[in-house]
Amino acid sequence: MVVSCSIRFDRCKDYLRAPSCVKKYSNMAAYCTDSVDSVLKNENTFSELLYKKELTEVGFEHIGPGPDRERRISRAQASRRMGDKIPPPYPNGWFAVAESIELKIGQVTAVDALGQNLCVYRGEDGVARVVDAYCPHLGANLAIGGSVCGNCIECPFHKWRFSGEDGSCVSVPDVEHAPKGVSIKQWTTVEMDGAIWIWHDAENRTPLWDMTEVPELKHWGYRGRNDFTVSAHIQDIPENGADVGHLNAVHSPSLLSRLGEKYPLLNDLIGYHVWSATWSKNEDHTANIDLTHDYRIMKYNIGHVDVKVTQIGPGYVRLFFQSTVGPMYVSQSVTPLGPSLQRVIHRVYSPAYNAPFAALSVRLEGDMFVRDVEIWNSKRFVSAPSYVKADKTIRAYRNWYSQFYSKNSVSFREANQNMLDW
Ligand code: FES
Ligand SMILES: [Fe+2]
Repeated sequence: MVVSCSIRFDRCKDYLRAPSCVKKYSNMAAYCTDSVDSVLKNENTFSELLYKKELTEVGFEHIGPGPDRERRISRAQASRRMGDKIPPPYPNGWFAVAESIELKIGQVTAVDALGQNLCVYRGEDGVARVVDAYCPHLGANLAIGGSVCGNCIECPFHKWRFSGEDGSCVSVPDVEHAPKGVSIKQWTTVEMDGAIWIWHDAENRTPLWDMTEVPELKHWGYRGRNDFTVSAHIQDIPENGADVGHLNAVHSPSLLSRLGEKYPLLNDLIGYHVWSATWSKNEDHTANIDLTHDYRIMKYNIGHVDVKVTQIGPGYVRLFFQSTVGPMYVSQSVTPLGPSLQRVIHRVYSPAYNAPFAALSVRLEGDMFVRDVEIWNSKRFVSAPSYVKADKTIRAYRNWYSQFYSKNSVSFREANQNMLDW
């Protein structure tokens, strides 16, 4: 016998792990009709795992404690020379602007990213929508005090309502006919991998490629995420995958203890990570990295992991991990909050039997990533590096990445004139 779950899906902890499930239901009062079995199959106790690092928490250990530490960090950042010939800060592509799990039906949230002020809301049909934040009437911010009515967004100032279908104004209090030709910009939006993504394009083109679902996520569960705010140019973040040389320089010391960095003789006892990688571009908006990892103690390699990485456009990376304990998928999004400020999130998924390791990986992978953040938070952009042979993939990566800039991309200088990163 199939017993319906009967949890209202907007209150169900599980539905956001598989956002495509939301789309099956068309109104807010809908109850989940999946069988209890299928809900239980997705059951996991790690879904709340969140490992979050704010900007000032990583890479500023050299700035001593004290009540004015935040101010001293800000000063250090303000005096940082970001480099010359810095590429535009907001490339063309899909960018995650909000976490699915943080946007319940009827909720509204303000997001400042890509040089835009955005209003992100979820209509009663469960669909996430993204619109420009400012009301065309008198400029109130719809994301701050605005409310969701059906699938419309209503402005807090004079209660004008805008359609969830096309952004047009559909009603004005005490006015019989809504003014014609008044609308807010709706951004092309999709929801997958636990995030809400918009298409950003300086030429206002429709999406140059589609976001496609990860088939495994139909059966795998969400195990948590790590979430970093990083001070760097967006291009620096995925460049890490093409920068093969940094892997063993930065990511070799053991996650168990970094004592081996200070005392290399201890390395054999504690163990250390050994990496190898190849980066290759495709003839489109994607590139691949084949990565292998071993943990070496004495002469023995343990903890072998293969990672197949696909970079999709400028701000999205898919990582499939395969190890003896099972597979795992990590969805990485990089979103420019400002010209040199990025939000980087890794969302971790796995089959149920591998849930404990995947949950642990939210932390382990985050701790590896911290090492890159330590460097990024104070580096500058070098437009013409002194390349050595091993860096040839960095050069290839930069050529490949340049496809995401176009004639009307806002320059780094222009973006900074209207922006306070810190
Ligand atoms: S400013 Fe939005 S309704 Fe007036
Ligand atoms: Fe790295």
